[in-house]
Amino acid sequence: MNITKLDRTDSTNSYVTRNSRDFVEATLVYAIEQTAGRGQRGNSWEAEPGKNLTLTVFYPWEEAFPALRQFSVSEAVALSVVDLLAGEGIEARAKWPNDIYVGDRKICGILIQHSVTGSGIEHSVIGIGLNVNQLVFRSLAPNPVSMAQLAGHEWALDELVTGIAGCLSRRLDIVKRDSGREELHKEFLGKLWRGDGRAYSFRDVACDVRFAGMIEDVETGGTLCIRSGDGDLYRFAFKEVEFL
Ligand code: BTN
Repeated sequence: MNITKLDRTDSTNSYVTRNSRDFVEATLVYAIEQTAGRGQRGNSWEAEPGKNLTLTVFYPWEEAFPALRQFSVSEAVALSVVDLLAGEGIEARAKWPNDIYVGDRKICGILIQHSVTGSGIEHSVIGIGLNVNQLVFRSLAPNPVSMAQLAGHEWALDELVTGIAGCLSRRLDIVKRDSGREELHKEFLGKLWRGDGRAYSFRDVACDVRFAGMIEDVETGGTLCIRSGDGDLYRFAFKEVEFL
């Protein structure tokens, strides 16, 4: 994977999207400073300049990748971050659909945008914001945590960039070759936050009903399947269910 370093940009996702025609191969672009970092649901993303990883990967698919299987890409990316953190001695889990948690705190946010044509996904723009050396968070993000807060020491960002590029190459290659995708999915389920087979509380957003249930699966399109206490299976798309 090619690696490009920028001193400053508005958002690495916006930068890669604007320049997507210039990329041919998988390329990771990271920025020391983002002036308008973007999060999920139109939120902004807080990252103190020079303290955290703010990066975006342009990832082309050789044959248009079936959009119905797009959640495999999210699984591969989440597992890559979990792999990187495990290598640094931090045990993290993937919170459906796109966060990485350590305990009950968010250490990393992921923002993936797929460029879809008639036949499928042509390329993916994969944004990752990993809290590394930042010690104070000022935004209203509910429960942030950084690697340095957890471990009590700092990390060299350039080394983590090389590390995450390797983890992403390995995991995304599995999705690209379409071999080992089932194992990848099983591994993802095994690393799912609150996916340990116990019952947790959720809120069905559409009808504002709270219920207890057990996460059973995530379908290839990304739908979360929760088995409620009375044995019924409920399926939720993004934003249709909240963890309480
Ligand atoms: C979230 O809200 O949890 C997703 C956050 C994604 C942040 C990363 S930082 C690098 C890339 N560039 C952006 O503007 N956003 C993503």
